[in-house]
Amino acid sequence: SIVKELFGLTNMEERIREHFGLQQVLIVPGDSDVSPMTKRDLGLAACKVLRKVMGKDDVVAVTGGSTLAQMAEQMTSMSPMKTNWFVPARGGLGESLEYQANTIASMMAKRVGAQYRLLHVPDLLSDEAYQSLMQEPNIHEIVEFIRRARIVVHGIGDAFAMAKRRRVDQQTVDSLRQDGALAEAFGYYFDRNGNVVHKMLSLGLRLEEIQQMQVVIAIAGGASKGEAVHSVLKFGRETVLIIDEGAANVIVKIL
Ligand code: BG6
Repeated sequence: SIVKELFGLTNMEERIREHFGLQQVLIVPGDSDVSPMTKRDLGLAACKVLRKVMGKDDVVAVTGGSTLAQMAEQMTSMSPMKTNWFVPARGGLGESLEYQANTIASMMAKRVGAQYRLLHVPDLLSDEAYQSLMQEPNIHEIVEFIRRARIVVHGIGDAFAMAKRRRVDQQTVDSLRQDGALAEAFGYYFDRNGNVVHKMLSLGLRLEEIQQMQVVIAIAGGASKGEAVHSVLKFGRETVLIIDEGAANVIVKIL
């Protein structure tokens, strides 16, 4: 669009796309850190992308977060997507209800007339709890279903902002700091080179599945998330990136 050309956004999209070998990069004007309107635009852009990549009988896994919530609120479909499913990517990540993956998945499904399945387990599990939950036939079955997803849509957060939001214990926070954690996505923490430095034991998609996934859509905005987005891109499993100008400006400076 003309607006995008004026602000050089098309040029930045292409630079980031090339650098990380992504299929598509979309940059919306503005900065979500300062403007709620920008965050809404980010959500709307993500809706359009998702609609394009969704086919028949697709299972779409989504994470939680305030950005995904903006997306869910704006989802629409001309005709009901009865053969599609929305599921949470991982067990309820200890967030407030409105930002939980379960909430987002069910809201998206209802808005487009699709089906959904939920995973009602806490975010942070002990080894023992993980093992015994996986032996529950109902839980086992839904986890297997989630792992069949072809598309995943996820947010990206600053490592310490997310650790705080999830009330991670001080010992873990210290070790995150020692390991140089910078970014968080779907319960995994990454350093500036895109190495995984910590993972939360939770049910649902594992990194192995995300690495095999055909479509991985990341959405994040705000200059404050620029470095975090960069390190998740370094990890390098995304196919589509949707960011705002604020984050993009920071990313192109690091390239
Ligand atoms: C979480 C996701 O729910 O939201 C994370 O699991 C992501 O992948 C985070 O980092 C981002 O939240 P927000 O509110 O900044 O969009």
